[in-house]
Amino acid sequence: MSDLEKEIQKRRTFGIISHPDAGKTTLTEKLLLFGGAIQEAGAVKSNKIKRSATSDFMEIERQRGISVATSVLSFNYKGRKINILDTPGHKDFAEDTYRTLTAVDSTIVVIDVAKGVEEQTEKLVKVCRMRDIPMMIFINKLDREGKDAFDLMDEIEQKLHLKPVPLSFPIGMGQDFMGVYNIPEQKIILFESENKQKVGQKHEFTDLDDPDLQAILGSDAIDELKENLEMVREIYPAFDREKYLQGEIQPVFFGSALNNFGVQDLLDCFVDIAPPPQPKKADKRIVYPNEPQFTGFVFKIHANMDPKHRDRLAFVKIVSGVFERNKAYYHVRLDKKLKFAAPNMFFAQRKQVVDKAYPGDIVGLHDTGNFKIGDTLTEGEKLMFRGIPRFSPEHFRYINNEDPMKAKQLNKGIDQLMDEGVAQLFTLNVNGRKVIGTAGALQYDVIQYRLEHEYGAKCSYEPLNVYKAFWIKTDDPEGDEYKEFLRIKQRYLAKDKDGLPVFLADSPFAVEMVKNDFPSVKLMEISEFE
Ligand code: G4P
Repeated sequence: MSDLEKEIQKRRTFGIISHPDAGKTTLTEKLLLFGGAIQEAGAVKSNKIKRSATSDFMEIERQRGISVATSVLSFNYKGRKINILDTPGHKDFAEDTYRTLTAVDSTIVVIDVAKGVEEQTEKLVKVCRMRDIPMMIFINKLDREGKDAFDLMDEIEQKLHLKPVPLSFPIGMGQDFMGVYNIPEQKIILFESENKQKVGQKHEFTDLDDPDLQAILGSDAIDELKENLEMVREIYPAFDREKYLQGEIQPVFFGSALNNFGVQDLLDCFVDIAPPPQPKKADKRIVYPNEPQFTGFVFKIHANMDPKHRDRLAFVKIVSGVFERNKAYYHVRLDKKLKFAAPNMFFAQRKQVVDKAYPGDIVGLHDTGNFKIGDTLTEGEKLMFRGIPRFSPEHFRYINNEDPMKAKQLNKGIDQLMDEGVAQLFTLNVNGRKVIGTAGALQYDVIQYRLEHEYGAKCSYEPLNVYKAFWIKTDDPEGDEYKEFLRIKQRYLAKDKDGLPVFLADSPFAVEMVKNDFPSVKLMEISEFE
């Protein structure tokens, strides 16, 4: 095996997704504990934006500043190099999370046992499903009263459209939570809440009829477990790694992140089954990680809000070959060569300059405005990784220029902020007015503040009644039906930043009307279509 191949096989790059508060931060922290990357839980400054701060976006940005450090958390475990790509839990930053999902090779979905499948989980899992990303599920907070395990599996099937395969099964719950049964290894691991910070201490039994186990759990609990395991065998398919890798089935684990319980089983299984860096589709061909020539793409740009340090950090996922410090790489969109003297890599909470990085790794490149989301770097090949999809925003407002002398600054600022992925810009066909679409109302404050402080431009907003943006697709752009659609809906038509046609629907009803009246016109909620 070549050195490059060895490095590739070592790496596991994944993201943890969940609805806020399900326990993503806590789980991340415990995983780092196993990797020996931190000594005690609580050491990770979370990327989580505290609810108390939601009205104060500067505070949020300050907290987001912290999140640069936690954007990628790397640690070694059992000979693997594990890269966790952190995703903001705050719903107003959902777009960030969608983009991060283009850079992961698999995900772990965290579900709160009491709340079950929540809204944000549904949205994020939908994105993973569309991309056939392999998913593992961790049902968290078993130390609290929650839903029945079989009911949760049903919910996962119905709301997330997944095929769960339990690889562990809980014994009791809440006050009566006694432990889990590890199905592939056929053993019981007893729950002990005093192991929060410790690693490697487990109380295990392999024989369900062991009198010591009977004495601890009682025969009723053991009988119930046996029945449940029988049901699991009857209802769910056997685990099959290939199917997991294809995104056809999803292994499920139960535990309590806070109590560091069930986390090691999850991690051990993860390092066994999760995929190494995967090939990626580009416009002309598929790029394989073991190709000797370096390729990578920008999936996230982090701007520094501190006016004294106006630099940006572009996060590049390495798709193939070896990335080397100080080597000139080809920026395909700009058609120019760039060198990076101080590429950063991230180890637990530390950032450090690296000389080399391999497929699956993320490097942070200092940027003075060369990059936008989706940009591709190569060793010279003219190749673009498939665009990072945009999703319809949830909020829409007109943006107006409040200082006629600063129109240029305003346009430049809007342009750059959109390149960073802060929000989306639509330009109405009828009058050329600019509409800003965002995932959360907070972004409007962020944009206004940044335009003023970074570009010296002033803006105001005006309400606009839009329910959702749809990218328009038709197989017959010259046909009468499409022309009629454009004529009737002209007031609602716009272009996105790349010039793609968009329909700004003012209600779900308007969408239905289009479906009925213009069946050949397809309205897509996502900007990237096959
Ligand atoms: P998030 O990143 O998904 O938003 O969730 P986070 O890990 O911050 O967890 C949300 C809350 O749930 C935290 O409590 C955390 O301590 C708690 N939690 C996580 N895992 C478990 C678990 O296994 N059992 C129980 N009982 N609670 C769990 P908080 O009070 O909101 O925050 P904090 O003040 O404790 O940080």
